[in-house]
Amino acid sequence: MLLCMKNYSQFFSLAFISMFLTHLSFPEYAAADMPGNETDKLALLAFKSQITEDSLGVLASSNNSFHFCNWTGVTCSNEQKGVTGLNLNGKRLAGTLSSDVGNFLVIKLLDLSGNSFHGEISPELGNLGMIQNLNLSNNLLGGVIPSDLSNCSSLTSLALDHNYLIGQVPPELGSLSELRKLYLGSNNITGSVPASLGNLTSLQELDMSYNHLKGEIPRTIA
Ligand SMILES: *[C@@H]1O[C@H](CO)[C@@H](O)[C@H](O)[C@H]1NC(C)=O
Ligand SMILES: *[C@@H]1O[C@H](CO)[C@@H](O)[C@H](O)[C@H]1NC(C)=O
Ligand SMILES: *[C@@H]1O[C@H](CO)[C@@H](O)[C@H](O)[C@H]1NC(C)=O
Ligand SMILES: *[C@@H]1O[C@H](CO)[C@@H](O)[C@H](O)[C@H]1NC(C)=O
Ligand SMILES: *[C@@H]1O[C@H](CO)[C@@H](O)[C@H](O)[C@H]1NC(C)=O
Ligand SMILES: *[C@@H]1O[C@H](CO)[C@@H](O)[C@H](O)[C@H]1NC(C)=O
Ligand SMILES: *[C@@H]1O[C@H](CO)[C@@H](O)[C@H](O)[C@H]1NC(C)=O
Repeated sequence: MLLCMKNYSQFFSLAFISMFLTHLSFPEYAAADMPGNETDKLALLAFKSQITEDSLGVLASSNNSFHFCNWTGVTCSNEQKGVTGLNLNGKRLAGTLSSDVGNFLVIKLLDLSGNSFHGEISPELGNLGMIQNLNLSNNLLGGVIPSDLSNCSSLTSLALDHNYLIGQVPPELGSLSELRKLYLGSNNITGSVPASLGNLTSLQELDMSYNHLKGEIPRTIA
């Protein structure tokens, strides 16, 4: 195409236009059109800052060259004006879970299953008012199950199985009226099965296998 050019000025004007277009389509310039609240970006950066291992390099491009709605695993919604999903299932990530993860305003799906996150589940996750699906299964998480998770009143699926959780099942979880799946299996949970779980009238699947539970199965479960 360059060979067909009649003169240099045509070449330079074309080059100028193409440079201009390149700049126009550069992510930073398109950021205004992307959904997402700055609060979500800060939460994502805080989340990223506590990841100590990323052998697959999945978070390498989670930087300012790209709008955060385009970062690996992130889903944004125009209608909801923010991050509605963070799915980093099986990405060989290690580190702790920043309590800032509780700052996502409109997140519905948080799936960090199948990684090597350790440390505790932050009670701040109880701030996720719109979350429907929380999957932290198959990690190295310890500590207790925060009763604050019962504040996530839109939860339909809660998977904390295959970790090192200790303590009792918080009776407060019985208030999660939308809950259809509750997976707590393969942890070190102790105590008895709370009678309040009988209040989970939407429940379809309950797995508490491979723990250290004792006592009777409450009649309310029926
Ligand atoms: C987001 O990613 C898509 C697909 O890779 C790309 O077409 C688009 O320009 C990117 N937008 C921003 C703002 O980064
Ligand atoms: C971002 O979220 C904050 C806190 O909820 C809110 O006050 C603000 O209006 C939001 N900004 C946009 C652009 O939606
Ligand atoms: C962002 O990530 C991309 C892909 O890994 C890389 O090429 C680019 O240099 C990074 N930008 C910054 C500002 O770090
Ligand atoms: C949680 O994620 C794992 C994959 O890592 C998947 O096998 C499992 O079905 C998920 N659990 C729920 C309840 O969605
Ligand atoms: C959850 O709700 C309880 C009772 O209303 C409240 O004390 C607690 O601070 C809430 N936790 C979070 C993380 O919002
Ligand atoms: C879990 O329970 C097993 C069996 O009682 C015990 O050997 C192990 O040390 C416990 N692990 C944690 C993290 O509490
Ligand atoms: C939940 O169940 C417990 C024990 O079965 C019961 O005492 C309590 O009133 C129930 N709470 C709600 C909100 O239904």
